[in-house]
Amino acid sequence: WLSHAGDVEAILELKRQRNAVILAHNYQTPEIFHGVADIVGDSLALARKAIEVEADVIVLAGVHFMAETAKLLNPEKMVLIPDLGAGCSLADSITPEDVALLRQAHPGVPVITYVNTSAAVKAASDICCTSGNAKRVVESLGVPKVLMIPDEYLAQNVARETDVEIVAWHGHCEVHELFSAKDVRALREAHPGVTVLAHPECPPDVVAEADFAGSTAVMSDYVGSKKPARVVLLTECSMSDNVAVHHPDVEFIRPCNLCPHMKRITLKNIRAALEENRHEVMVDPAVAAAARRAVERMLAV
Ligand code: 13P
Ligand code: SF4
Repeated sequence: WLSHAGDVEAILELKRQRNAVILAHNYQTPEIFHGVADIVGDSLALARKAIEVEADVIVLAGVHFMAETAKLLNPEKMVLIPDLGAGCSLADSITPEDVALLRQAHPGVPVITYVNTSAAVKAASDICCTSGNAKRVVESLGVPKVLMIPDEYLAQNVARETDVEIVAWHGHCEVHELFSAKDVRALREAHPGVTVLAHPECPPDVVAEADFAGSTAVMSDYVGSKKPARVVLLTECSMSDNVAVHHPDVEFIRPCNLCPHMKRITLKNIRAALEENRHEVMVDPAVAAAARRAVERMLAV
């Protein structure tokens, strides 16, 4: 903490001067998450809370699609992302042209798009979802069949919980696809009694062997409400660090995987973002209205 004190102080002062808020995803490092963030949460919470922000400047400590979503919901505010290279393997897996081809192949079938996508892909969709509301969004449409893009595993995991037929795309999260059912069995053997929580971006056999699956916020709530003696969160590494701070009595077992995109955000580049207005996130006006509609439709569910 001492090594971060200078940057933390400077960021807190810059936030006051600039009337800025920092929205941080659950995968940000503890010095960001606990040290400088004003609003923290999963993708759904960050989108929801972005609407309520009253500041002039929003710094998104997370990845690019999250900053784009914040900009869509706050077109008049300045939205900054400290590193433009903070992308996402899911967002990179699909283009608007792919969505058009899917629609041709499945005429009349609505397209539900995970928020981990570009604004252009959202604009080509009917409605968005996150891992925290995917099943609810699927069932809200009242149709027998939907396309759910681009995360194949999220689509397959939701399909196990609903009667709606789900057609998937082949995108994967490079962090969660690394977990295997074999890992879960090895964990249970090495740590008897461990509660295994998995993110729904994990492969379906991992989710099937876990005790519970949910978005990052849902995993955090689970630990808070059930207080397992020992727990493993099959997700990005910072998640356990951030949740563990609030639960000193819970033993966190930590096989985890790092997201190289999330880890591009640091105190140093958050400070530079606020000092130098970099990097401002803009959404192409040609797609902004349609993308906003897909996000707002999700928020209304
Ligand atoms: P949630 O926080 O919405 O569960 O998303 C996880 C994720 O991978 C975001 O990039
Ligand atoms: Fe994308 Fe996966 Fe990283 Fe989330 S954890 S930003 S889904 S690559």
